[in-house]
Amino acid sequence: MAEVNRYCLLFLLFVSTIVALPFNVISPFLKEVAAALPGEKPVPGDSPVSICDSDQAQILSLTSLVISPNPPVRNANLTISALGVLDKTIEDGAYVEVDVRYGYIKLLHQIFDICEEIQQVNMTCPIEKGEHDITKEVEIPNEVPPGKYVVYARAYTKDDEFIACITGTVEFPIQNGIFGF
Ligand SMILES: *[C@@H]1O[C@H](CO)[C@@H](O)[C@H](O)[C@H]1NC(C)=O
Ligand SMILES: *[C@@H]1O[C@H](CO)[C@@H](O)[C@H](O)[C@H]1NC(C)=O
Repeated sequence: MAEVNRYCLLFLLFVSTIVALPFNVISPFLKEVAAALPGEKPVPGDSPVSICDSDQAQILSLTSLVISPNPPVRNANLTISALGVLDKTIEDGAYVEVDVRYGYIKLLHQIFDICEEIQQVNMTCPIEKGEHDITKEVEIPNEVPPGKYVVYARAYTKDDEFIACITGTVEFPIQNGIFGF
């Protein structure tokens, strides 16, 4: 359980960093799968992330998202670079709902304060409308259990206006048994 929690934290960091950022997001995605799901469309750039609920108006337009390496690797640093445009200024009270599924298990459903989370990338609220460019490096610990993780992050203003829906899938392979240990 402790390991699972740690994983959650990792993902949260990953997601909140990205989602909460001016709302960039992350989560690796199979582009083919993404394209096949209604309302989802891939984000330009090299990442497994897609926009979800794309039939609904969203304050953030994610112009580009690049993660390196893609797909992410355990026991390595991951660099996330996002470029997006906000149609409105984001003020205190904005929040993001994060859901993480691990295989068939619902690992996490939690709400985060966007204005708190973005401090990790040295930003503060209000986040002015216009273009934002964010880069963040996070370490992915070796303890992350192998498997497939699906993340959904939906961000809203304090008045419940839709900021963004971002989703991604990342799969950490099981290490080769012979060489893994
Ligand atoms: C990640 O980057 C930090 C700072 O550059 C470094 O100290 C750390 O060793 C790196 N972690 C891995 C797993 O490479
Ligand atoms: C945030 O600011 C601190 C102190 O100025 C700096 O050391 C750090 O590298 C900055 N972090 C980012 C992600 O820009």
